[in-house]
Amino acid sequence: MADIDGIKDNNEKDYGIGIPVDTTGFFLKGLNNYDWGIKNRMSRIYNPKNGRTVMLAFDHGYIMGPTSGLERIDLSITPLIEYADSLMCTRGILRSVVPPIANKPICLRYSAGSSVLTYLNNECTADIDDAVRINASAMAVMVAIGDPLYEAKTIENLVKTADRGYKYGIPTLGVTAVGKDLARDARYLGTATRICAENGATFVKTYYCDDFEKVVNGCPVPIVIAGGKKLPEIEALELCYHAINDGASGVDMGRNVFQAENPVAMIQAVRGVVHDNLTPQQALELYDDLRS
Ligand code: 5RP
Repeated sequence: MADIDGIKDNNEKDYGIGIPVDTTGFFLKGLNNYDWGIKNRMSRIYNPKNGRTVMLAFDHGYIMGPTSGLERIDLSITPLIEYADSLMCTRGILRSVVPPIANKPICLRYSAGSSVLTYLNNECTADIDDAVRINASAMAVMVAIGDPLYEAKTIENLVKTADRGYKYGIPTLGVTAVGKDLARDARYLGTATRICAENGATFVKTYYCDDFEKVVNGCPVPIVIAGGKKLPEIEALELCYHAINDGASGVDMGRNVFQAENPVAMIQAVRGVVHDNLTPQQALELYDDLRS
């Protein structure tokens, strides 16, 4: 029988009368009406104090094989894990190399299907059970807007992933496609990011470009930028700085971190720009201090 001795009289209970319930919205753009699970997982990827994130992308092998800097992920990426807010990788690398005790939110590379040796973008998606099984905090799906062959298929991949994600409370990251034939200007990237959001992406990964504010403002959910090809360190830090200043909510960077001369110093310098509002020059000084 339940013990009722400790139950107070209603007059003695504290209902906080006069203290309004906090009704402020969720800290990330466009996600206030999402379900608890999606908000909880986004709060693991993003720092709720500033709404920003440094995601470390090392999923390149899914289309490129042993990419420079990723030949031995156990050696090159493991030392960077502690500095990343989230890890973006394939399920193969996750299971083979990433220590489960790292306890970092995983953005699972969820679409795949072709390689750089053929025609990119002909992708399918994995099974939602596997995303649940590995405790994914997000599922990343490539979307090839403007590709005459695979635009519809990749949008369908996004739509189906978002459907499954809503069911299980897992966010979907729409990744605007790379490819030599696709433009990287505000008109194209604004179109591609908006289409991702309209079709269910919880957040979107794209490239920085001139007039990036227009891309950000036209997209109703948060945007993170990819770093792209390896740049000199100062230019990579400038890229982060301009992207954040123009409204990106973080970075999802790979080559400009793990191909840097000192990746452990570089990821901390990137963090300095994203989380501590360092200027590129200040971040470069941090990089130089850390590697010396
Ligand atoms: C490709 C990806 C890659 O993970 C991402 O673009 C790599 O990041 P970076 O360009 O910074 O090396 O999503 O579709």
